[in-house]
Amino acid sequence: MIIMLLIVTGLVTMGCAATGSTPTKESPPTSAVRAASHHADEIATVSPTWIDGLRVVRPSGNDVSCPWSITYPQVPGAEAFTAALRRMVEARRADFRTQACHQAAPELNLDFAFLVASGDVIGVRYTEWWLGGAGDGLSTTTRWYDAKTGTVLPATALVEPGSIERLTAELGKALSRKEGFDPRALRDVLADGASRASYLDDLAFTTRGDLVVTFDEGVTGVAPAGQLRAVLPAATVRPLLSGFGRRVQRQVVEPERRLDLDGPVAPTPTLPPASEESTDCHRVKCVALTFDDGPGPHTQTLLAHLARFHARATFYVVGQNVAMSPDVVRQTAEAGHELGNHSWSHRDLTRLTAAQVRDDLHRTDQAISRAAGVTPGTVRPPYGAVNDVVRTQTPHPLVMWTVDTLDWKYRDAARVARAAVSGAKPAAIILFHDIHSTTVAAIPRVLRTLSTRGYHFVTVTQLRGEVAR
Ligand code: NI
Repeated sequence: MIIMLLIVTGLVTMGCAATGSTPTKESPPTSAVRAASHHADEIATVSPTWIDGLRVVRPSGNDVSCPWSITYPQVPGAEAFTAALRRMVEARRADFRTQACHQAAPELNLDFAFLVASGDVIGVRYTEWWLGGAGDGLSTTTRWYDAKTGTVLPATALVEPGSIERLTAELGKALSRKEGFDPRALRDVLADGASRASYLDDLAFTTRGDLVVTFDEGVTGVAPAGQLRAVLPAATVRPLLSGFGRRVQRQVVEPERRLDLDGPVAPTPTLPPASEESTDCHRVKCVALTFDDGPGPHTQTLLAHLARFHARATFYVVGQNVAMSPDVVRQTAEAGHELGNHSWSHRDLTRLTAAQVRDDLHRTDQAISRAAGVTPGTVRPPYGAVNDVVRTQTPHPLVMWTVDTLDWKYRDAARVARAAVSGAKPAAIILFHDIHSTTVAAIPRVLRTLSTRGYHFVTVTQLRGEVAR
């Protein structure tokens, strides 16, 4: 995640940095559901759907003046990996909040894809968009887990320490034709053990086993120069790899259809279907409970609470999370709840171009329909942020809320329950985030209290249909 300082200097002084003035020129996340890359030089990613019990946590700050969204996977049996990734993303969030929140138009967005998750190795690649202040722009990093030793490793662990000099020479050759590349600067930063880990922090493989080394883009006050990327052929790089690096390379080229982690596998509870009776919201009092940002580690507990009260709800899911936990999304739909589109990776959509908004929402629709066999009926934009571009590009009606429980801010189940109950009135749309355990813990009390006051719990579409009639 460290910005590439020295290598791009040449490019900047040559005045050729105008490769694009905004860092949003590419769509940020690499596909998590793509099993293999389409281009030979593309970094290989794997579908995480067969990792037993995988959950993805995606906390986000819902304050639109300083939006952030970070994420990390919970892989059962690889708790050390989860803890390290969590520490890493939370450190970025803390840095962002102190360094960028007072800047104009800040946003932090972290996303990741699995590079490998088979045999006894796991690799993830993080993509970070940091807008506002120092560090502005795109950066990427890879992190590795060796299940044999239970250790979390940086990108440099793929390379034998004694081979760094040869790797540097090979990188120099591969990058020599790139405009602005300074081979001396590269040698300097890679020769020094302290700076090496920061600069050489994104190593990954193609499906052929070629090594892809990516250096991050420009520095403060300088237009983004784009990332520098070198691809070293598998045969060239193999003698330079560490034992761990060779195991990773083997799993990327020929993945085993299993992942050897000595951890417990999370059970998948089955739920009774929600009540099928139709509710006439003209004759009875209705509210729509809505849950954003999931699915997450507490979603299944929430489904169990809702089932006990025969309550329907609407889940505004994040596409990336859907791709990681399609089973939970399928269960949600099967239990009679509605699925809504909450974007692919919780970007502030007002920062994107029309084409990017369209792609983002379409990709999310597709992930939901692949997971659950249904197309969402409505969109809720992250942070509630809308502009004319978002309004014209959305494929479904935009739905906001009438009651904000502020559950992301107050992690207190009693307070969340009070906010929901006191805000409820007929046709209310109540906003929660099921990624917080305190929110899910509040729900039985909300359901009990509002039931005794005569409320029925319907989906957003039911409510809108009934209200519009
Ligand atoms: Ni959200």
